Amino acid sequence: MALERTFSIVKPDAVAKNVIGQIYARFEEAGLKIVASKMLQLSREQAEGFYAVHKERPFYNDLVSFMISGPVMVQVLEGENAILKNREVMGATNPAEAEAGTIRKDFADSIDENAVHGSDAPETAAEEIKFFFNDDELCERLR
Ligand code: PPS
Repeated sequence: MALERTFSIVKPDAVAKNVIGQIYARFEEAGLKIVASKMLQLSREQAEGFYAVHKERPFYNDLVSFMISGPVMVQVLEGENAILKNREVMGATNPAEAEAGTIRKDFADSIDENAVHGSDAPETAAEEIKFFFNDDELCERLR
């Protein structure tokens, strides 16, 4: 398995709880390396664009409002099988269904405010990284 990159967001609920560092530690403990990272206050336009795939779903407007309710951390994680590994570390979308020891089990309160986002496939990872980062913001981690 070659090195893979995935896109991740620490959502406004987790930033407000001041657990950015604890969440980053979960990534690192799983062998994922942070190769780009920044804090952003998303605009409504950015949040609507990022979640356009969910436009027809009943929770779309609430999701957009939540994602602009405070700053987020956006990051690119690199590692073997990074997309799947990150989703395992995050846990199920609904924290009530998330396994013990996952980020959502430990830091999220509800399916609407569930602490983290992670890309679900190589194509979406590439698109999502491009949505938030320029090539010159992505670092090489040789060790
Ligand atoms: S699901 O449950 O399989 O439909 O979830 P998914 O398609 O992977 O992602 C849905 C994203 O919307 C966020 N969200 C909700 N999902 C389901 N139900 C409700 N009520 C809801 N509210 C918000 C969910 O956290 C997913 O966000 P991301 O950022 O993609 O993880």
